[in-house]
Amino acid sequence: MTNFLVLGATGFVGRSVCEKLVERSGGADGRIRVATRRFPRARHLQLLPTVEVACGDIHDDAVLARMLRDTDVVINLVAILHGSEAEFERVHVRLPERLAQACLKAGVRRVIHVSALGAALDAPSKYLRSKARGEAALRAASLALTVLRPSVIFGERDRFLNLFASLLTIFPILPLAAAKARFQPVWVDDVASAIARCVDDPSTIGLTLECCGPRVYSLKELVELAGAWSGSARPVLALPAALGRLQAFVMELLPGRKLMSRDNIDSMRIASVASGKLPGLDRLGIETTPLESVAPRYLGHVSGEKRLEAWRARARRG
Ligand SMILES: NC(=O)c1ccc[n+]([C@@H]2O[C@H](COP(=O)([O-])OP(=O)(O)OC[C@H]3O[C@@H](n4cnc5c(N)ncnc54)[C@H](OP(=O)(O)O)[C@@H]3O)[C@@H](O)[C@H]2O)c1
Repeated sequence: MTNFLVLGATGFVGRSVCEKLVERSGGADGRIRVATRRFPRARHLQLLPTVEVACGDIHDDAVLARMLRDTDVVINLVAILHGSEAEFERVHVRLPERLAQACLKAGVRRVIHVSALGAALDAPSKYLRSKARGEAALRAASLALTVLRPSVIFGERDRFLNLFASLLTIFPILPLAAAKARFQPVWVDDVASAIARCVDDPSTIGLTLECCGPRVYSLKELVELAGAWSGSARPVLALPAALGRLQAFVMELLPGRKLMSRDNIDSMRIASVASGKLPGLDRLGIETTPLESVAPRYLGHVSGEKRLEAWRARARRG
């Protein structure tokens, strides 16, 4: 019987991870404790068998210690895409540091940590540098650690293809920053399967796995595909670097959930594709799913108006 604590379970990847963990045990083994700051965010997860919702601030050591009680495996999915240096530090570095200490105190050894492809101490963005420091903090502790580094993740509730599909319903022409940036998109279900397989495969302890799909695309190609599949095909205009940064700066100033930041553009200066130096999902026996076999289905059946409503609702919440 394995008891899990999933941090960041209420997010896009977290939902699939919880479903996969339930599927793994047939809903009959152990317990999946999901941590959340706001109970309503976890309501959908509570419907899954063996899921227990724990509400509290995981940046508080006492709360974290309580959540770790009777836990065998911790899965950390907590992250932010936009923020100040201090916010990235708190969420991507301090939290893994504190989690490592809390796990050692609680006698929890197995940790699966989701980072990001391109994480490096000398990476061009705050996001990627802080992700690298978070990985390092966990590696420095005597834990049974597996790190996963995904490229951009797609799936029904993604904030990548859905975002561009939404924008294409508004603009007759889409001016795009970092149009040549390269990605190797991976399906959320494949990432969740990878996490579930790591749980059952002790040979993955100590590994850093790159999670990438079968093909590399430029950002411009991905945006054009999102337009074609959602029925809003529009011309996409690649912006020169300076204009792209200016556009991102303006977006940082807009109220509500941030769509883009200069730090995102900095992240895209390095290709988010498999390095070839680290094992990939084939190491876990996962044959990755092509974008073309999943994304047209979920982009196609939601109308532009519905997608915008969902975005407005998220912006109010965020
Ligand atoms: N999505 C991608 O394309 C992608 C690509 C590469 C790597 N990744 C990595 O995959 C992991 C999961 O990503 P995701 O797309 O599922 O992200 P997400 O949807 O934004 O979810 C992030 C989760 O972290 C929680 N969280 C954020 N800030 C927090 C804070 N200050 N304190 C406590 N909890 C906090 C959120 O809780 P609330 O629900 O309360 O906000 C949410 O559960 C992350 O490590 C991310 O860096 C994702």
